[in-house]
Amino acid sequence: MDKKLQEKFDELTRKNKEALQGGGEKRIAQQHTKGKLTARERVVLLLDEGSFEELGKFVMHRSKDFGLDKEYYLGDGVITGYGTIYGRLVYVFSQDFTVFGGSLSETHAEKIVKVMELAMKNGAPVIGLNDSGGARIQEGVVSLGGYADIFYRNVMASGVVPQISAIMGPCAGGAVYSPAMTDFIFMVENTSFMFVTGPNVVKTVTHENVTAEELGGASAHSAKSGVTHFACANEAECINQIKTLFSYIPQNCEEDAPRLPYSLGDERRTQLNDIVPPNPNQPYDMREVVNGIVDENSFFEVHKNFAENIIVGFARLAGRSIGIVGNQPASLAGVLDIHSSVKGARFVRFCDSFNIPLLVLEDVPGFLPGTDQEWNGIITNGAKLLYAFSEATVPRVTVITRKAYGGAYDVMNSKHIGADLNYAWPTAEIAVMGAKGAAEIIFKKEISEAENPEAKLAEKVEEYTQKFANPYRAAHRGYIDEVIFPEKTRAKLIKAFQMLENKVAALPRKKHGNIPL
Ligand code: HXC
Repeated sequence: MDKKLQEKFDELTRKNKEALQGGGEKRIAQQHTKGKLTARERVVLLLDEGSFEELGKFVMHRSKDFGLDKEYYLGDGVITGYGTIYGRLVYVFSQDFTVFGGSLSETHAEKIVKVMELAMKNGAPVIGLNDSGGARIQEGVVSLGGYADIFYRNVMASGVVPQISAIMGPCAGGAVYSPAMTDFIFMVENTSFMFVTGPNVVKTVTHENVTAEELGGASAHSAKSGVTHFACANEAECINQIKTLFSYIPQNCEEDAPRLPYSLGDERRTQLNDIVPPNPNQPYDMREVVNGIVDENSFFEVHKNFAENIIVGFARLAGRSIGIVGNQPASLAGVLDIHSSVKGARFVRFCDSFNIPLLVLEDVPGFLPGTDQEWNGIITNGAKLLYAFSEATVPRVTVITRKAYGGAYDVMNSKHIGADLNYAWPTAEIAVMGAKGAAEIIFKKEISEAENPEAKLAEKVEEYTQKFANPYRAAHRGYIDEVIFPEKTRAKLIKAFQMLENKVAALPRKKHGNIPL
């Protein structure tokens, strides 16, 4: 290398060190005083000690406008490379807000694209740690092009390798669409936000006064929009949660998730016997059922604060990773509505993409009525869940704990739409609707003409209950494979998923289906 070039190189290396490592106290302090870690600290926390191999650390931007010809930082605002989590390969990029606000330049984008392509070729997940002011404003269209190059890779990688995004600072404008196309989004409370248009534009256009946190903070997106799957109290918790999620999922679409060793013992779980209350209108927490069935403390809930009338998450059953979808009678009686259908559908599709068997726990009184639901498209959105289950080829087992009413019976992984096994507890009620509603409709005349309409209604409700509010009609038809005691559920499911382990199922040849989006 000639002397001049060497000097420039040394100078840049020194500057970069100052910016990113020990010497860059000011920039590091900028992050720390905001309650944020630096880009490098995040990578160090995320990966197994000493496993990180950085790629492209000498990359610099190529812009000359607006003073950029005088300001260069090695790495150009993003740290990229690969390493391991619990010994398994992952690709990582971590945006550095201390360099041009972590903004995305042409070269910054190229570095991200490089790790995404490596991830796809080598079959390992990509984890993006986002902390960026968006497109590098001084660069104009080349930074927009850079975003599009990333978006395109997000779509190409979708269903090939898991993609995980953590938002650890700003993520605004079109930049939000890269995380949005990944499989899971994590946000950190009070230090991260995501929105397409910020508070100032919102104020101008809609005259609403709203802070960045209110508009697009972790709480808003975990509870209201459902954009984020996890809202974490701080960055350390966020990184820990990413690692936990990682332990349930495979490296790519050709592999199975890691399995923990497990020796069978007494698999009876008597605590399951007392969860469903005798009164069919009384709520209970489906999480208790989940925890009674799966390996101890293994339930890892996803999208916890959003659409609480359905619960989704990963767990282990005899050491094997499974995906769980359960109606939640403790919230809106477990009814299916727009948000819960979309939440369930997206989770089912993730599990199906990555070979994670599905367990469905069903207690559903039907779809939520009302103009709000109808006008906002419960038809199209409810169909997403139906479509997602129907299309899934992974092992699929359902346990009906109580209600399986109406269309929701079909939708919630019934055998008619391809589930492998359906079990029911003796408390199951499989019918077109609840006994009272049914009796009121089909015996309307008889009840109104009766001397004592109330007594007649009660009699007819009882008649309908005897006939349909149980699992045996469905079991006679074979729609239910077995009526099981709650305490035996875990043992039955362990055997069932073992039996289904080598399931082979193919969809008809097609380019792709047309899920009702
Ligand atoms: C270049 C940027 C930048 C950007 C921030 N910086 N955003 N430089 N391009 N997009 C620089 C700032 O000039 C500043 O440089 C440093 O980063 C820190 O920024 P501050 O504003 O001091 O930080 P803070 O107060 O924390 O505010 C953070 C912020 C704000 C909310 C992100 O910087 C901001 O609003 N930035 C612009 C956001 C934006 O409009 N981006 C374009 C969106 S459009 P110095 O040298 O002073 O330290 C977009 C299109 C994508 O992204 C399209 C894809 C299809």
